[in-house]
Amino acid sequence: MGLRSVSVNGDAGKTTEHPWWKEAAVYQIYPASYNDSNDDGIGDIPGITQKLEYIQSLGVDVIWVCPMYDSPQIDMGYDISDYEAVYPPYGTVQDVEALINEVHSRGMKIILDLVVNHTSDQHAWFKESRSSKTNPKRDWYIWKPAKYDSDGTRKPPNNWRSNFGGSVWEWDELTQEYYLHLFCPEQPDVNWENEETRKAIYQSAMIFWLDKGVDGFRIDTVNMYSKPTGYPDAPIKDPAAEWQEAGLVYCNGPRMDEYLGEMNAILSRYNAMSVGECPFTPDPARVLGYVSEKEARLNMVFQFDSVDVGMGSVFKYMTKPFKYTLADVKSAIGRTQKLIDGTDGWTTSFIENHDQARSISRFGNDSPQWRSRSGKMLAMLFASLSGTLFMYQGQEIGMINIPQDWPIEEYKDVDTINYYAEVGRRNPNDPGAQISAKAALQNLARDHARTPMQWSSEVNAGFTSDSAKPWMKANTSAQEGINVADESRDSSSVLGFWKQMLKLRKTYSDCLIHGGYKLVDGDNPTVFSFTKSSTAGHFKALVICNFSSKESELPLIEDLDAAELIFDNVSETQAGARSTLQPWEGRLYIVKKDTEA
Ligand code: GLC
Ligand code: CA
Repeated sequence: MGLRSVSVNGDAGKTTEHPWWKEAAVYQIYPASYNDSNDDGIGDIPGITQKLEYIQSLGVDVIWVCPMYDSPQIDMGYDISDYEAVYPPYGTVQDVEALINEVHSRGMKIILDLVVNHTSDQHAWFKESRSSKTNPKRDWYIWKPAKYDSDGTRKPPNNWRSNFGGSVWEWDELTQEYYLHLFCPEQPDVNWENEETRKAIYQSAMIFWLDKGVDGFRIDTVNMYSKPTGYPDAPIKDPAAEWQEAGLVYCNGPRMDEYLGEMNAILSRYNAMSVGECPFTPDPARVLGYVSEKEARLNMVFQFDSVDVGMGSVFKYMTKPFKYTLADVKSAIGRTQKLIDGTDGWTTSFIENHDQARSISRFGNDSPQWRSRSGKMLAMLFASLSGTLFMYQGQEIGMINIPQDWPIEEYKDVDTINYYAEVGRRNPNDPGAQISAKAALQNLARDHARTPMQWSSEVNAGFTSDSAKPWMKANTSAQEGINVADESRDSSSVLGFWKQMLKLRKTYSDCLIHGGYKLVDGDNPTVFSFTKSSTAGHFKALVICNFSSKESELPLIEDLDAAELIFDNVSETQAGARSTLQPWEGRLYIVKKDTEA
């Protein structure tokens, strides 16, 4: 496989004034599914600590650990009952302190997940809040009286649909009011308008951990804290339903900038990084408002453009597998890359996380013939984009979706379960609807990211002992070579490719991490080509990816004449005529700018 000798000098070693988080590659860890150190079937913090050598060997700089706080686990820890305690099956606060120290002693950094739009309904704050209308913490959550229609039927305050289906309003018998939950009923939204509440959140969820040395946060649902004045109804997109998708109404409310300014003031005291999850924000100017350096709010956000490609508009799973074109992928990536064009903003590059199905199964081809090659091509693409790079556990070995023949019972995510049940309720006499729903979930469900990390070809993929029962069944692709042990022995594996790609990303950081993105040959229906170049650096990169299981013609791109092919995912023996792109071939060329006329 072709890491060709790099005859031009890389930009490595050059001193830059960029903050540390810009050139970092971040590796995301889902504690339940990473590594089980005590064979109870659940991954844990000591399990992560045991794998730091492996993680460092990838060439990443930062780990992001998904919520490990105490929680009833209705939404896998995104429902936190105590910010200052660890979910006992994952370990203890001391285990996290040990992890922080180990990460730092290796010269790496660690960020945690900050989930403060909502707490668990088992958090002490909410228990108090719901206990009576006069409790001092009543106003810490969002309580509203009922509305009554003409025949006296009780109705919630508006028509918003929760992210996991159903109304966002839950009726509370004891105090006869509704409370707001944009996610599960067990995840009540905190009232950010209350200054005392905000201070408590900052202290308990942020400062507590910053004082222990964490280097920043991935901030959950960061644009939902400030709710729109008057809680207006959402437009009706789903006439058959009572509740309407309302993300565009409840995100990015009027006080967002103020709240983020307050958070930033704390984070900057610690030189900590922030990356916010920013759904439902199609307006680039609004996104820039969050990530502009001079505004001092967030360092960067995750936009949803790329991961939303192929998702349904009414319900994200109400779609057919592969319902998108390459043009959709190109424009989604273009929108997030443009964010840094001539601005003081920063962006991110990612295609997987714990909320997304596996990228090879969605955007490549996960058949045994093409999975490895298409996985490498996607690695090349996303590691060539500007912004901070985020990779998700298992992506580095090319993990793929759960096999098609697994029954729906193997899916554990509340989002999956609720959607599947809703389809059943809406179509009681139509088994076809259930079949389509299952097909969409097999392609897009969050569960695909949550199966155990595949360390070896053993029964439970080496995640836990062979005799233990993992909380989710390990994907049988571990027995087909998709695992760390096998791939470590083979430098032509997806794992080997990612390691080389991460090195190249640093070597050519000026163009690959900071450079301006330009789509070339934009109308090509199967080939995605773009250049990356910065005014500062000496090089320009040209990336060409064949998004097809068939050969494609190499596009005629003017830069090609002066370009040197430095990396590809097809070995020279497989390559054939260089004017033809092999199925799922990806090529990275470097053009030395001095040689340009
Ligand atoms: C974010 C998380 C997701 C969670 C939701 C509610 O989108 O990434 O996993 O379900 O917020 O906290
Ligand atoms: Ca365990």
